Amino acid sequence: MPRGDIPDHAAEYAGKTPASAKMFAESSRLHVNGVSHNIRRFDPYPFVSRSSEGGTITDVDGNAYTDYWMGHWSLVLGHCHPSVTRALHEQIGRGWMHGTVNEQAIRLSRMISDAVPAAEKIRYTASGTEATMYAARLARSHTGRGVIAKVDGGWHGYASDLLKSVNWPFDRPESTGLVGGDKIVSVPYNDLDEAVRVLGEHAGDLAGIIVEPVLGGGGCIPASAEYMAGVQEFVHRNGSLFILDEIVTGFRLRYGCAYTAMSLEPDIITLGKIIGGGMPIGAVCGIDDVMAHADDSRGGRSYVGGGTFSANPAAMAAGGATLEYLRGNRGTYDAINGMGERVRSGLAGALGTGGGRAAITGIGSMFMAHFAKDGEECGDIVDAGQAALCDQEKLRRYHFKMIARDGIFVLPGKMGAVSAAHTPDDVERLVAASEEFAGAEQGR
Ligand SMILES: Cc1ncc(COP(=O)(O)O)c(C=O)c1O
Repeated sequence: MPRGDIPDHAAEYAGKTPASAKMFAESSRLHVNGVSHNIRRFDPYPFVSRSSEGGTITDVDGNAYTDYWMGHWSLVLGHCHPSVTRALHEQIGRGWMHGTVNEQAIRLSRMISDAVPAAEKIRYTASGTEATMYAARLARSHTGRGVIAKVDGGWHGYASDLLKSVNWPFDRPESTGLVGGDKIVSVPYNDLDEAVRVLGEHAGDLAGIIVEPVLGGGGCIPASAEYMAGVQEFVHRNGSLFILDEIVTGFRLRYGCAYTAMSLEPDIITLGKIIGGGMPIGAVCGIDDVMAHADDSRGGRSYVGGGTFSANPAAMAAGGATLEYLRGNRGTYDAINGMGERVRSGLAGALGTGGGRAAITGIGSMFMAHFAKDGEECGDIVDAGQAALCDQEKLRRYHFKMIARDGIFVLPGKMGAVSAAHTPDDVERLVAASEEFAGAEQGR
């Protein structure tokens, strides 16, 4: 929705969020555009949160929302899961910032390396952005080449290097202030022939490709197994590295990474979000040979510093508690993936995929709706361009209606994720709210 337009249900929303309106005005005075992450802003103003628990986030007016945004999809167990809460409380008593090698980090890494075979070595960061930045650097160090390929619509955080071809149209600069963009090339997603053709043009200087097994920010779109295998084959034959960004998918679809289920052999994997249990985290992991470039004790000169807050005990403890719970309760994945499946089939019926009015994408516990523009029909959505060309205004109308009317929070314009704290009843309420939206739209 263009900024300044008054959305449907704005009056209803204003009526129930006066404290948010007031506080967001102050937030706007203090913060750029009122927010600390561009995507958190939505019109007319985002509610201001006060607390969260289980499947619910509550705003400063006391409105409770069933939360499918779940902290940028980092909270696979929901808010304040008892195991994570306990681990954090205990850790606070033992210190939350040591700045040293700590036992909590070793415990978390043991679990990651057991579940992610390619994670022969791990280095933590405080964000996913840093992890992908280091991944690109390591690939260049290892190969002595300059070009990193990514896919159209791939989102790897705000690091300068990879801030290219994120938003449609993909050939437009994403930001001012970037230099050296010629060392990043973009290839189509889920189009193996074309991807290989573009990679071939850069073969001599190709250090590696970074790709998400499921485009998250780009529209919740799974990669086909053939595409991933074909791209991997090309880069490996070419002496380049295959980098998987599993910051969203790691420990989301199964205990471990998505790539093992796809029989892939990445050289570098980036993780984040879930492995920190909702605390700030990122990790760059990979096979020994590649990670050795970061080992300054062995003369490695690829700086993968980690940073002040890397492996801080609080994040390590929260991540450790999350993975430990998931490892011992594998049924969690059956439950959230099953609810995800029901969301996708329910939304398909509610929003009209049969008639081409909408398409639903996703896998496991991840889901997203896409709406056809007036006079058009949605086909299958297999890349971020197709997703971007859907009716973005209607998508935001849909999400905003659910916030304003139904107490359901999917960040407007983004995908949603079911957590272990959601229930089948929550899912049915989401489907019913979507059905109501589709009905109202027909009368527009
Ligand atoms: C696939 C992917 N990579 C990297 C990032 C960047 O992570 P962070 O926001 O922690 O810097 C994100 C964030 O959403 C992501 O979805």
